[in-house]
Amino acid sequence: MGVFFLNKVKIIQLLAVLIILFYIFPTKKINAPKEEFKIVIPNDSAVNLGDEYVADSDDKDDLKYILLWTSARNAPLAYIGEGQKGFVDRKCPYTNCFVTGNKNHLKDITKFDVIAFAGPDVIRMYEDKLPVKRSPHQNYAFASIESSDNYPVCSNRFDGYFNWTWTFKLDSDVRWGYMVIRDHNNNVVGPNKEMHWIKQGDMDPVSDEFKERLKSKSKAAAWYVSSCRSRSKREQFVKELQKELKQFNLTVDVYGKCGTLQCSRAKEAECFDLIKEKYYFYLSFENSFSEDYVTEKLLNAVWNNAVPIVYGAANYSRYICLLENCCFVRLLLTGRQ
Ligand SMILES: *[C@@H]1O[C@H](CO)[C@@H](O)[C@H](O)[C@H]1NC(C)=O
Ligand SMILES: *[C@@H]1O[C@H](CO)[C@@H](O)[C@H](O)[C@H]1NC(C)=O
Ligand SMILES: *[C@@H]1O[C@H](CO)[C@@H](O)[C@H](O)[C@H]1NC(C)=O
Ligand SMILES: *[C@@H]1O[C@H](CO)[C@@H](O)[C@H](O)[C@H]1NC(C)=O
Repeated sequence: MGVFFLNKVKIIQLLAVLIILFYIFPTKKINAPKEEFKIVIPNDSAVNLGDEYVADSDDKDDLKYILLWTSARNAPLAYIGEGQKGFVDRKCPYTNCFVTGNKNHLKDITKFDVIAFAGPDVIRMYEDKLPVKRSPHQNYAFASIESSDNYPVCSNRFDGYFNWTWTFKLDSDVRWGYMVIRDHNNNVVGPNKEMHWIKQGDMDPVSDEFKERLKSKSKAAAWYVSSCRSRSKREQFVKELQKELKQFNLTVDVYGKCGTLQCSRAKEAECFDLIKEKYYFYLSFENSFSEDYVTEKLLNAVWNNAVPIVYGAANYSRYICLLENCCFVRLLLTGRQ
């Protein structure tokens, strides 16, 4: 995935257009290619650390040492980069941090300024696998891009253990984002607890060119999924949705091993083009319910000119401009009403 850039005007434009078009679109069925589909996991370039990294130190010559206690291969620790490279490459305002996975890099682990732990790894660690000595000057960082529903921190050995959090939660000390929202001046304005979205009346009108592009759409909804059972039970919800849509001779086309359709792993871009071309809606369904847990699935819809149907525990108006009084999802579910 490329640069995370959400133009809220564009989003709301396409929401508005697609919601209107949904009522008039033809239901002619088009055969989708029979291929395998792959879910997109945001990679290094998708992680906009440069925007989010904030260092405390004023003294650029004063090197701070960060020890990755858990595997340096697991997200999000894998994204930091070794030594100072990650900070230098991303042109961070501060580059005086040194990252290592080597516990012996300094002769004593209490000499590290920060010890970072990947959430999914550390929650399974017993006491004897955790650092034995701790200095009051050290900050322990809990880092996770996984939902707390899938990876809860239950053990009381972690009560008051971490000084900092580095997660997708909006109130995390350092936020790891699946997306950022920028305004016209390219400033990051979200997601945030309080968002000030542009009013519908202040938006630019939808261009004829964009309307033209939407004309190729003919099918209701697509869902690309690789994990068939989830804690959020989204799969059951999709079944219900299928049942309701059937009355209107519509379907949710499910791609991937949990569905009947395939889109090639090797041709990810084409799979997304398929959404762009054919589908009015895309199911941006999270695998679990966790506050602020909104992943790239939302972008899969938005980037491909499809209306996201969302399923998750976030307050979605922190992430996307929702039309007031707009009840397209409810409309689908309650069928004839
Ligand atoms: C990440 O994704 C971008 C865009 O799809 C791609 O150009 C880049 O090579 C990928 N980077 C890695 C490390 O996979
Ligand atoms: C339902 O859709 C199918 C495939 O698009 C079409 O062949 C059929 O005529 C439609 N049935 C009704 C009742 O519209
Ligand atoms: C981090 O938290 C621990 C445990 O609460 C505390 O002892 C330590 O002083 C804190 N570190 C800093 C740098 O404040
Ligand atoms: C949800 O987020 C919006 C956007 O910032 C905010 O105005 C609203 O108060 C939030 N709702 C709840 C229930 O927190």
